[in-house]
Amino acid sequence: MIPIKDREEIKKVKSSSRILVELLGLLEKKIRPGITTLELDRIAFDFIKRKGAKSAFKGYRNYPATLCTSVNQVVVHGIPSSYRLKEGDVVGVDVGVCLDHYYADVTRTFAVGEISPQVAKFLEVAKESLKVGISRAVVENHLSDISNAIENYVKKNGYSVVHEFVGHGVGRELHEEPEIPNFGPPGEGPLLKAGMIFAIEPMVNIGGSGVRILEDGWTTVTKDGKLSAHFEDTVLISENGPEILTCC
Ligand code: MF3
Ligand code: CO
Repeated sequence: MIPIKDREEIKKVKSSSRILVELLGLLEKKIRPGITTLELDRIAFDFIKRKGAKSAFKGYRNYPATLCTSVNQVVVHGIPSSYRLKEGDVVGVDVGVCLDHYYADVTRTFAVGEISPQVAKFLEVAKESLKVGISRAVVENHLSDISNAIENYVKKNGYSVVHEFVGHGVGRELHEEPEIPNFGPPGEGPLLKAGMIFAIEPMVNIGGSGVRILEDGWTTVTKDGKLSAHFEDTVLISENGPEILTCC
């Protein structure tokens, strides 16, 4: 069963989402050559605490940090470390919070300093693939219409989507039903209803779609060692169309 949220619950997911939007703004300003991913994690930890919220990730299946910081060939679940970001890197910053028992989840991939036009184009396409997916998150569409739109858009641009990780329902828990793959045929799965809240999160590779998980059990990298990018929003399906809660 996909949970349908009432007005009060939607308000709470919105409050959690606001914290994430503010935090991303703060982190974006700090992301430049020389800062370590652990320093970014500390900033996020302090900010979330100050807001009276809790990290959704820290302690989740023993995950050790507030952020996932996924640099270059890291697809998802990069653990913050003493690694210093350098000019030309891209870093995916994934963060979730829980406030008053309700969760929101967001990811942006940022450029560190100047990046090449090829990499900029790649980030643009990955970012747009999320927008395209969200545009299909409308009442009476099938769930897999979102998945299909994302895959088509990415492939049309010559890149690939990751199959091993998926988006998800979010709200009362960090991960709720349904799972939302970033690939597949259209017209399948449950019909979308107003009051559903989804974390839609394409992971896009510049090369092949294959990934592997390192010995730490978390860090997921591309098999071919090429770049990956990840964008995620918490999205409310409403009678007036999709509402991006983790935006602006
Ligand atoms: N945005 C990711 C997800 O929805 C982040 C999970 S990281 C974890 O699954 F540490 F919490 F597992
Ligand atoms: Co997520």
